[in-house]
Amino acid sequence: MEKFSSDILLWYQTNKRDLPWRQTRNPYFIWLSEIILQQTRVEQGLPYYYRFVEEFPTVQSLASASEQEILRCWQGLGYYSRARNLHKCANNVVDKYHGEFPNTYKELLTLPGIGPYTAAAIASFAFHLPTAVADGNVFRLLSRYFGLSHDIGTQKGQEAFRKLANKLLPAEHSSNFNQGIMEFGALQCAPQPKCETCPLFTSCFARINNQQKQFPVKLKKQKSKSVHYSYFVFKRGDQLWMKKRLNNIWNSLYEFHLEENQVDDPMSILSSIGISSANVQSILEPVEATHLLSHRKIHAKFYLVELDKSHEWNEPSEAFANYYSLEEIEHLPKPKLIENYLNEKMPLKAE
Ligand code: ADE
Repeated sequence: MEKFSSDILLWYQTNKRDLPWRQTRNPYFIWLSEIILQQTRVEQGLPYYYRFVEEFPTVQSLASASEQEILRCWQGLGYYSRARNLHKCANNVVDKYHGEFPNTYKELLTLPGIGPYTAAAIASFAFHLPTAVADGNVFRLLSRYFGLSHDIGTQKGQEAFRKLANKLLPAEHSSNFNQGIMEFGALQCAPQPKCETCPLFTSCFARINNQQKQFPVKLKKQKSKSVHYSYFVFKRGDQLWMKKRLNNIWNSLYEFHLEENQVDDPMSILSSIGISSANVQSILEPVEATHLLSHRKIHAKFYLVELDKSHEWNEPSEAFANYYSLEEIEHLPKPKLIENYLNEKMPLKAE
């Protein structure tokens, strides 16, 4: 076990990537980076990290931002409850801790959106406390090296790896060891492992037994359920009608009129929401797109419906439901599915 830890530290010294959150002990920056990196890989996470740090250089500035500004900055990363928790957590740090992140694992755990992984990461990187991190990279590395079959799809399995990581952690080098095992898992013991150049070659259980592919063990793969979305993109002159979603994972993001099923007859939908055919100048053939969420596969169709310049809804509009110019839309937070449609698929955008 000691050899494993010292090999990791040694490897990390010469192989680490130069990443901005490794140049700081500021818990605010470290926290931002960890929340972003739970959503995406380092290369894709970097521009988000720079944007957040630039727009919200302190925890106070993030706390006083609007949820909409934060969602806009997070746009594209998915799993928007993380962005809403960023806001809640920043407010907690400002209100309960006078704007300073608490410096114990236990107190960090009480903050919104901070679980065992993030608390351990902040505690070790910012405060050099001996708390081990275990993310997917670490599960893979430990399961292969020690030949452990704990199911990483379960809390119990993850807990077993967390315990082992804590045993392996050299207390006086917690920050570098934690960065090191994650980096080793990401670069060396990647899903496609680079055993030929691995410093653990001679002692790794999976390599010795030629079982790299058998680890880590993940027994039950969650099947994603297919759902159908039909979006009606109402265009009035240069404006598109959008509204703020007030439920669900996309809460507070803007989207077009949505029917959560497949539509056979678009005209009947229009009349059911109070649009008479006299207002409709054209309906284009729908543009199709698919979008994967963690447990859902969305099959979306976008119907572009051009309406009279004078079109107004008879019913009093819901809050935030309105016609917006493309420039205004640019600044609204939107699900990636909508953003992609606007950027790539909207036939009239280039006009
Ligand atoms: N993934 C999660 N946290 C990370 C970190 N601090 N550095 C690189 N990759 C990571």
